[in-house]
Amino acid sequence: MKALVLAGGSGSRMRPITHSFAKQLVPVANKPVLFYGLEAIRNAGIREVGIVVGATEPEIRDAVGDGSRFGLEVTYLRQDAPRGLAHAVLIAREYLGDDDFVMYLGDNFIVGGIDDLVDRFRRERPHAQILLTKVADPRPFGVAELDADGRVVRLEEKPERPRSDLALVGVYLFGPAVHEAVAALRPSRRNELEITDAVQWLIDRGHRVESTLVSGYWKDTGNVADMLEVNRLVLEGLEPSVDGEVDEASELIGRVEVGPGARVLGSRVVGPVVLGPGSLVRDSYVGPFTSIDRDCAVIGSEIEYSIVLRGARIDGVGRIESSLIGREARVVPAPRVPNAHRLVLGDHSRVQISR
Ligand code: TTP
Repeated sequence: MKALVLAGGSGSRMRPITHSFAKQLVPVANKPVLFYGLEAIRNAGIREVGIVVGATEPEIRDAVGDGSRFGLEVTYLRQDAPRGLAHAVLIAREYLGDDDFVMYLGDNFIVGGIDDLVDRFRRERPHAQILLTKVADPRPFGVAELDADGRVVRLEEKPERPRSDLALVGVYLFGPAVHEAVAALRPSRRNELEITDAVQWLIDRGHRVESTLVSGYWKDTGNVADMLEVNRLVLEGLEPSVDGEVDEASELIGRVEVGPGARVLGSRVVGPVVLGPGSLVRDSYVGPFTSIDRDCAVIGSEIEYSIVLRGARIDGVGRIESSLIGREARVVPAPRVPNAHRLVLGDHSRVQISR
């Protein structure tokens, strides 16, 4: 069995972060979200992984390498443009051969891994196995309709009027029959080759498509709110450790990880919080569910429920919450007169300012 990990795409929902790098590399508890997926694949006993990459191929290659440090053998498969999830399967035809495979969306996060799913697929060998979860608003997802016996009868991608509240989770298992399906597809309304259409093709031809209902242990990290929520989930399991310096005037409460060379001076840190190597927290408050990556500085400020990327500096700005702050970003006060906000924002930035 192989794995096909999708790490291309355009990442429009994560702009401006995705203007400068791949959304699959946004860190969750200071580790790229993609790495959690690769570890789940390895833990399920799969070694051979094809990673579908697009314009951000160099940085994905840089981060993952040949996969050996995950115990994987990684092959990179270049997709010329984000032409859809089924297009990714199409370009992987030669790599996958006639092997069964698990298709894993590189920005998805599955709590508890995929061992059980892979075991079930290996035992039952259906033509496809999909995962479903109940969601409040299914419109942004692929949506499944089941018959009275719980068999999948219909799938629809991002429907305006969903026929159920069952959304497709970003992990699919396929046997080789899917290749015939993707080869027969035509682009959808949004001009993509849809994996839902490929699965529908299998259903229509009487192939066996199984579904598993999962509850509450999956997140698509394609937008900032979900990213922060996944960060919270992972930090819930944080083991406290202090490899850096915490001075007498500081207080660490709960589970806090202070990385090598990191310093906490005159500050209060209420976990779970991870502070990356070389970072500085001075005269500040860092509240629960915050990940601060390496070489950052938080000075004279308060921050909570946020992700701060490498090299960012937050200095003298009061309280920040529910925020994703990009690499090398600077958040500092404006000079006192005139009383105005001074902004240098990248394309597609979003700023919410409290008055
Ligand atoms: P999506 O999040 O559905 O698509 P996207 O990356 O284009 O994002 P957005 O909707 O914000 O513009 O993609 C799910 C995963 O699959 C993600 O890791 C990117 C990857 N992907 C590919 O590798 N190739 C593709 O053609 C598409 C559409 C997605």
